[in-house]
Parts: sequence; structure tokens; C-alpha cells
Amino acid sequence: MSRISSSLGKDLIGLEPLSAEQIRGILDTAEPFKEISERRIKKVPVLRGKTIVNLFMEPSTRTRISFEFAEKRLSADTVNISASGSSVVKGETLVDTARNLEAMRIDMVVIRHGASGAARFLAERIPSNVINAGDGSHEHPTQALLDLLTIRDHRKRIEGLRVCIVGDILHSRVARSNIFGLLKLGAQVGVCGPRTLVPAGIEALGVERFRRIEEAIEWADVLNVLRLQLERMRTGYVPSLREYNRVFGVTTPRLERAPRDILVLHPGPMNRGVEIDSDVADGPQSVILQQVTNGVAVRMAVLYLLAGGAPERAEAAKTGGLG
Ligand code: CP
Repeated sequence: MSRISSSLGKDLIGLEPLSAEQIRGILDTAEPFKEISERRIKKVPVLRGKTIVNLFMEPSTRTRISFEFAEKRLSADTVNISASGSSVVKGETLVDTARNLEAMRIDMVVIRHGASGAARFLAERIPSNVINAGDGSHEHPTQALLDLLTIRDHRKRIEGLRVCIVGDILHSRVARSNIFGLLKLGAQVGVCGPRTLVPAGIEALGVERFRRIEEAIEWADVLNVLRLQLERMRTGYVPSLREYNRVFGVTTPRLERAPRDILVLHPGPMNRGVEIDSDVADGPQSVILQQVTNGVAVRMAVLYLLAGGAPERAEAAKTGGLG
């Protein structure tokens, strides 16, 4: 099956291979799509006739549901597959699963998988567009894109901002995608976390490392707080969750000592009282639920662009389809 060439290429596997122009193109395309979710009837014919499979081999609330809303609001036909409900539990390989889906004439696959590289592996083996919804500790590009859009909404720019990613950097695909995206758009990026959860030599990516949360808060305009990924930790990376909160937790008393008004993001799911206190998560500096709202628009933009849409035609496409 031949594919329409898009401004993003065939697939979205990560932000590392994208240019600043491509990333800005996605964010700009998301802008007109935001309005669709505010309508009484949240549906436009942009992807009418396209079939999209959401293949989620790891648990997800936000990403899976957000992709499904994005697809439905663009009028695509969607099918959801989870590991437990598929023949993967009988030993079928990822490629065999995907080839059987292809045999039913699908157009796109959105994949979440526990193995780093799974999205690229699939993209190289099937002609359908593949979108990475998070693969192991590699990348989670649409999460970083919605983070970028949310920061841009609130600070009107990305370039020159100081954004510090706090917490479990080692296991985090969100951290990697954010670092690539933020640096390409001209932000200064910091990371802060315990020695055991920050990869050695991370400065080589072009980021600044903070060993104390107080220093990070003094430096930053934006904090992106990550959860401790307990399910990926085989040994004791932190003495206890209570100790982690005491030393690295983002708390109101710490934010009150900041020299400027800091924007607080968290990709979710949150461990309240561990990496972030509830009064911060629900407080005036938090934009956590706006991230979730922006996630739908960003995913609509990615689906539209991969289907052959152009950023400059996104507004018109809302009434007339892909054109
Ligand atoms: N942020 C994020 O990826 O959340 P889910 O695991 O719920 O999709």
C-alpha cells in the first residue's frame, strides 16, 4: 500500500529525529483543533474513512483515551486492542499481530509497548502509519508535544525558558522526549533527581544537572515533575517514598521560596505525597489538567499530519476533510 507523504514522514516514533520546524508545525496545527473539543457536537470529517488501531500493550489512562477521543473527533473508525485481550497472551509476536491487522486493511497503528524500540520495529515492518504512544524508556513524543503546547500557551514562548525535569529521569521516556523537544525549540533544560535516578553523563545531551530540588526551583521558570516509576525499578533506587518526598518532593513551602512564579507540569499518573504534594498538584501554579486537555488537540494534529494534512490547511480541513 502506498502512503501519502506528510510533513512528518510516515511515522511519529520520537522527537529526537524531528526538526524544530516539524515540532512547531505540530504545535501550530494543534491550535485550530483545540476548538473542536469545545463544541457541542465534537466531530469533524477530517479522517472519515480511515481505520486506526490503538495497540496498548502496557496500561494507560490518559494517552489511550486521549488518542481515542482525537480519532473519534476526527471521524476515524477505531479499534482498541490490549495485551490481555489479544492473542499476545497465547504467544503471538508483535509483528504477527500487526500483520493480521494490516490484512484487515487498517491505515494507522498507535502503539504503547514496554520495550524500548518497539514502535520503530513495527514501523519498519508494516506500511501503515505508526505513532509511538510510549515505548519502554525510549520516547513518548505526544506527551512531550502536549507539554510544549501547554508551556507555550502559558508563557507565550519556549525559546529562552528554563525548564527543569524533576524525578525519575532514568526510566522516563517523557524526560527524553521533553529534553529533545525543548532543546530543539531553544529552551534551557535542567534535570534534578537522586543520583540513582539520573543517568550518568546526561549533561552530554545539553542539559544542566541539579542535585538539590531547592537549586532547581531557584533556577527554573517551569518544573515538569515526573513520577517514580516503581514498576520499572527492580532494586531499591530510593530509601523510601517518604524519604524521596522529604528530599525531592515539590511542595508549597519550596515553591514559596522561588524567586519567580513557576509553572508546574506533571504527565500523570501522579503519586500524590511522593514526587508532588496535593496542594501543589491542585494549586494555582499547576497546569496538569490543561496538559490533558491539550493532549487531545496535539494527537488530533499528529493524526491529521500523518494522514497527509498540512499545517496551513488545518483550519480549513475542519469543515472539508483532508482536502
Ligand atoms: N502520561 C501518560 O502517558 O499517562 P498514561 O500512562 O495514563 O497514558
